[in-house]
Amino acid sequence: MYKAQIAPSLLSSDFSRLAAEISTLDSSGADILHLDVMDGHYVPNLSFGFPIIKAVRNLTQLPLDVHLMVTNPDFHVPRLIEIGVQWISFHQETVHHSHRLISQIKEHGIKAGVALNPATPINTLDSILPLLDYVLVMSVNPGYSAQAFIPEVLDKIQYLSDYRKAHALSFYIEVDGGVSAANSTALLNAGADILVSASYIFNSPSYSTAIQALRH
Ligand code: DX5
Ligand code: ZN
Repeated sequence: MYKAQIAPSLLSSDFSRLAAEISTLDSSGADILHLDVMDGHYVPNLSFGFPIIKAVRNLTQLPLDVHLMVTNPDFHVPRLIEIGVQWISFHQETVHHSHRLISQIKEHGIKAGVALNPATPINTLDSILPLLDYVLVMSVNPGYSAQAFIPEVLDKIQYLSDYRKAHALSFYIEVDGGVSAANSTALLNAGADILVSASYIFNSPSYSTAIQALRH
């Protein structure tokens, strides 16, 4: 029913050659580009913001998936809508009224997702799963690429996959953090649909081989 999609995260790309990196990803079978926005408050790191996202928007036709790791996602969503991204996720831990923000994103024809830290129980999402286009399951603590995969999240993916089936829902399950060919099969078997990967792809001599290796 669901086909695995690979979403390279630009966080590990060479920013001094961003256009070339994106063009290589474009011709290497990437399905989606994952953009990690960090504010230095919600996570202990800063990445990039609207000007860079806008530049990326002009460099590729691939769908852009913006992962907001910020304390005030409500403030950023309107700018992302304006830029024309296709997917937006925010962290459940940062928002008081997630139902409202999800509805706002979806009203603009953009896929809405909620991200969950490794320490946040998965069943806290139950009541909004029917509304969501995707769940972003964090398999590292957000903030940096190249961290070790936390294997306990496999149970969360399985939970979501079982819940989706039991309730005839259709949200995607996206997994982010420490994803490599060493765990991609387990992730896909547990029910993941979209695999985000930064360091594994960008440290590989061939992005295309790495992307292929993640598919099974
Ligand atoms: C972590 C980011 C991830 C990160 C993944 O805060 O949300 O998207 O770039 O990096 P890897 O694949 O190297 O763990
Ligand atoms: Zn991410």
